Amino acid sequence: MSELSLRLSDEGATEALGASLASTGQGGVLFLEGDLGTGKTTMTRGLLRALGHTGSVKSPTYTLVEPYDGLQPLVYHFDLYRLGEPEELEFMGIRDYFAGDVLAVVEWPERGRGVLPEPDCRITLTVVGRGREARIQALSERGKPFLEAARAQQSERHDAGV
Ligand SMILES: Nc1ncnc2c1ncn2[C@@H]1O[C@H](COP(=O)(O)OP(=O)(O)O)[C@@H](O)[C@H]1O
Ligand SMILES: [Mg+2]
Repeated sequence: MSELSLRLSDEGATEALGASLASTGQGGVLFLEGDLGTGKTTMTRGLLRALGHTGSVKSPTYTLVEPYDGLQPLVYHFDLYRLGEPEELEFMGIRDYFAGDVLAVVEWPERGRGVLPEPDCRITLTVVGRGREARIQALSERGKPFLEAARAQQSERHDAGV
């Protein structure tokens, strides 16, 4: 399995990683794992801004999903923190959200286990000192471009001394 670990020294680095994922221009299922406050929503904000979204981005903690349907690809941002049972996703018609070429970004995917589709790419965030560490795993062919985009962006930042 291909994977990469990156240090994210500040909020800007987390947003930049999100933007690099968006630069693939493709759809897929991205799982964002990590405790509260590790930067999952920050990364999603970077991704959405890179696709042209200009408004605010908040975790859809109570509504579970926020659609961004003016974007290409269309993005669904899930936050399953408050999901009681994975089966609740069935009542939402979860399958419709994953049909077609959409980019589904899922915070707290563990809570939807068994009902969510398998991810193409998993990003696990942990707090390290004042910053964060991101582990990026490509889990399917469709997931590989996300990993490669993160790797390319990392070497650019490294060359620029960021
Ligand atoms: N790489 C980073 N280094 C330090 N702080 C960060 C980093 N990335 C994000 N943060 C900060 O972490 C806090 C929580 O971020 P948030 O994205 O809301 O977390 P989550 O969605 O995982 O609960 C925010 O204050 C954000 O600015
Ligand atoms: Mg969040």
